[in-house]
Amino acid sequence: MTSQPGDSPARVAASEPAAIEWERKPKTIDANLKDYDAAYKGFDWKSVEREFDWSKTGKVNVVHEAVDRHAASPRKDKLALAFTDFAGRDERCTFQDLKRLTSRFAHALRQLGVKKGDRVGTFLPRTPELYIAILSINRIGAIPVPLFEAFMEQAVEDRLGDSEAVACVTSPALKGRIPLKKLPKLKRLILVGASGALAPNEASYEQATANAPDWVEPEWLTVDDGLVIHYTSGSTGKSKGALHRQYAMVGHYQTSKWALDLRDDDVYWCTADPGWVTGTSYGIYGPWTLGISSVVIGGRFDPDRWYETIQRYKVTMWYSAPTAYRMLMSAGEAIPKKYDLKSLRHICSVGEPLNPEALKWVKKITGLAPHETWWMTETGMQLICNYRSKDFPIGCTGKPFPGTYATVVNDQGRELPPGELGHLVVKPGWPSMMKEIWRNPVKYQEYFRIPGWYVSGDSAYRDEQGYLWYQGRADDVIKTAGERVGPFEVESALVAHPAVAEAGVIGKPDPVRGHIIKAFVSLRKGHQPSEQLKQDIADFVKNNLAAHAAPREIAFVDKVPKTRSGKIMRRVLRAWDLGQPVGDISTMEE
Ligand code: WTA
Repeated sequence: MTSQPGDSPARVAASEPAAIEWERKPKTIDANLKDYDAAYKGFDWKSVEREFDWSKTGKVNVVHEAVDRHAASPRKDKLALAFTDFAGRDERCTFQDLKRLTSRFAHALRQLGVKKGDRVGTFLPRTPELYIAILSINRIGAIPVPLFEAFMEQAVEDRLGDSEAVACVTSPALKGRIPLKKLPKLKRLILVGASGALAPNEASYEQATANAPDWVEPEWLTVDDGLVIHYTSGSTGKSKGALHRQYAMVGHYQTSKWALDLRDDDVYWCTADPGWVTGTSYGIYGPWTLGISSVVIGGRFDPDRWYETIQRYKVTMWYSAPTAYRMLMSAGEAIPKKYDLKSLRHICSVGEPLNPEALKWVKKITGLAPHETWWMTETGMQLICNYRSKDFPIGCTGKPFPGTYATVVNDQGRELPPGELGHLVVKPGWPSMMKEIWRNPVKYQEYFRIPGWYVSGDSAYRDEQGYLWYQGRADDVIKTAGERVGPFEVESALVAHPAVAEAGVIGKPDPVRGHIIKAFVSLRKGHQPSEQLKQDIADFVKNNLAAHAAPREIAFVDKVPKTRSGKIMRRVLRAWDLGQPVGDISTMEE
């Protein structure tokens, strides 16, 4: 169950002995960050700013730093993006190609009336065009709003509606999920791969870029202008947009260098989709500001394809997530034995805690232990990590990145001694801290409810050596297969089903997915519980919101427990699920 700071003055059970013998690293390691402790003491973000052209010219645009400056350097013919969908599309694109492609589409966007500061959705499968679209939107100083291709109508409407996007880059297969009538601000759809007639509000990506110039100067911005908006879930309300500013690139760059340990000769594979923050911070901005070659694969998860990707491209650095490692683990040892994985030299993990069993499995098949990186959509960059040059105790989340301060505090903001469970917080002011929650200052302020700290919503403790140990979410946010889901969004989708009167949703621990979504549902008069109805309700959420947000378990109850003020008591639901006593229910409605 999720640990709840404040529930009890929990002293965490004596922590495991620190170093694990098998995780000995060579003393002569060639890591970019050689001495964490020294770097932590003497670090200044100003030194990183100097690595960007804007520090000399005053002209800011991430696309210059991630693409154009490499295209004007000896890196111009270096591979920027290698793509395969394992279904006949195999492409390679250099930094020079990226400059041309993102200039052409930038020109097309301008022709279609998109201006600096406008929000533009991207709703595409993982293809080169998705990456080109995001950087083209950046090139003209507009703000990309990347959507995950699995989103269904409600999820798309919420995000494009809230951001008031004026255009969306999408495909003929996905456009039907964009409810135009409910999105009055959305004037344009740009379709990748359209054939046949277009509606008046539609443009073809291929036609619009066909005769466009190979070079469009970036719109020059300030470090405070928008970079990207990522929608993410909280424990209350609909998903909210975390707006990041251009300055975030400073954080993306340095963490890619020191935590991902990227270097010039790497072949880097970030498995995350740009619909999630990992897919932009570490699938686009971090690696490309460093001029690194990246691999992207399309299509669904498949163990054979994943190992084949490492073998085919000789991937050296691999950034993925615990659920993916566990899915590979459950597919068995025979599959990785068919492939040559020796090119790998470093592996990192993000999104949820990496359980020791999965860590050991990856170590067994690759010879390398994945290194934790902890961060959030709102933080924009990795903040607590295990570093390549340093041994770390297995199962720990890591230490704060140089130039940042993360710790554990009580409800009053006082730092807790080692071993005590509390709120995992960060001192505000790191480079890629979100600039705002899109047009929602009240929500933004909630992150700073403990004075002096950014409150992550996670609970953790610190050990004697200064390592932080993640213990769970302190709120009702669910992490399922690494994806963040807000219970309110799922509950809203559930009560839209004609048979559902009330619904309450929790995360239930699961060995592969970390947690699965479990819904407690009371039915309207005239509807009877049945297995068929459960399936029907789950499908309904899948078809309206997204497959990953659909409950994998549904329990029918007479009444969903609520406080007198109408708040769903998820604590009671969790107790029901575990068959435990429900504790104090004095605030529960009759
Ligand atoms: C969880 C996208 C344990 C945590 C990067 C956090 C982790 C939430 C880790 C953010 C990790 C992320 N170990 N938990 N290494 N990384 N989390 O915004 O609960 O999708 O608050 O993050 O994921 O989710 P988000």
